Amino acid sequence: MEKVRIGLIGCGGRSNSHRDSFLKMDDVQVVAVADPIEERRLAAAKQFGAERIYRDYNELYDNETKETLDAVVICIEPTAHASSETRAVELGIPFLVEKPVNLDLEQARQIAKKVEETGLITSVGFQDRYLNLMDMIKEELPKHKKGGLVYGAWVGGIPGVWWWQKKSTCGGQLVEQNIHLADCLRYLFGEPLSVYATCSTGMVKPGVDASEEYDTDDHSTAVIRFPNNVTATLVSGCYSKDIRPNCGLVITLDDMIIDYRLRNNLIFKTGNYTYDVDRERIDHTFYLDKAFVQAVKTGDASGIRSNYQDALKTHELVFAANQSMESGQVIYF
Ligand SMILES: NC(=O)c1ccc[n+]([C@@H]2O[C@H](COP(=O)([O-])OP(=O)(O)OC[C@H]3O[C@@H](n4cnc5c(N)ncnc54)[C@H](O)[C@@H]3O)[C@@H](O)[C@H]2O)c1
Repeated sequence: MEKVRIGLIGCGGRSNSHRDSFLKMDDVQVVAVADPIEERRLAAAKQFGAERIYRDYNELYDNETKETLDAVVICIEPTAHASSETRAVELGIPFLVEKPVNLDLEQARQIAKKVEETGLITSVGFQDRYLNLMDMIKEELPKHKKGGLVYGAWVGGIPGVWWWQKKSTCGGQLVEQNIHLADCLRYLFGEPLSVYATCSTGMVKPGVDASEEYDTDDHSTAVIRFPNNVTATLVSGCYSKDIRPNCGLVITLDDMIIDYRLRNNLIFKTGNYTYDVDRERIDHTFYLDKAFVQAVKTGDASGIRSNYQDALKTHELVFAANQSMESGQVIYF
């Protein structure tokens, strides 16, 4: 395969980051694009020189096969997925899909099952896993006594996309945004044992601070138990304005504090020293995309750090937290 031929599904905000990656890769050609918004699909087609332009993913799948496309990259809003991944599996076309992969967890489970059965190459947009900083945390943890407290935060404002205003269309901040840190927790500490979560509204005024239809949580807190005596508290907030978002993980071990400042830097602190590491792989989405392209080219998916089946487990965690917010009950896995 000389160039990996990609079909881009969804040409909105997030697709721009993938576009930047693909334009830097000599071995990738985006040959087809799909988006119901004409202006977006035409702009994307122009940027890539793509000649096959479709109004939505169904039109794309009706006209493409695995002989014409080597992979698809799916960047659509959380409620638009429906059969976007299922059709890729049926056609045998590898896909990279953005989180959250689906707001219908049952549908996501069915897709994961089909992906598993067919052995299709898949990847999900958890780019933190590809950072050198995450590698360093993973290397450091086994050097210390097991156990400890982890504080994770993603606190900022409300993203500009229309579908973020309602919990029914974005899944809530934990599902749509802080899912990145929930995934880091699983990547670092293994599978969760239980989650309890609570949330609050009333700080963000619909029609004043957000659109009239705003009904998502202003902030939430999830307490997640992991094996080996690790307890994580994950806070999410979208009520703050005019401040730099406060995002990252602070891991307090018996003799060290590891402070991961989301996609930015990492600080190791002990009683005697403080060691600050800058990110190396600044362009995190590039490394996510590169691993996927490499897997499609070679058939060896070992460089992919989050495939669909693995990502499903992170989705199950954040959906369970949502369930706990509603019921007030601890959810055990
Ligand atoms: N990994 C990350 O860091 C990251 C960052 C931002 C967004 N995201 C995720 O990426 C996804 C897209 O977010 P966004 O910010 O680009 O949203 P967006 O609203 O800017 O873009 C979504 C695009 O999908 C298009 N679309 C809708 N239905 C479609 C269909 N049937 N066929 C083809 N296209 C369709 C829309 O017209 C729109 O242009 C979301 O799941 C979001 O959570 C991930």
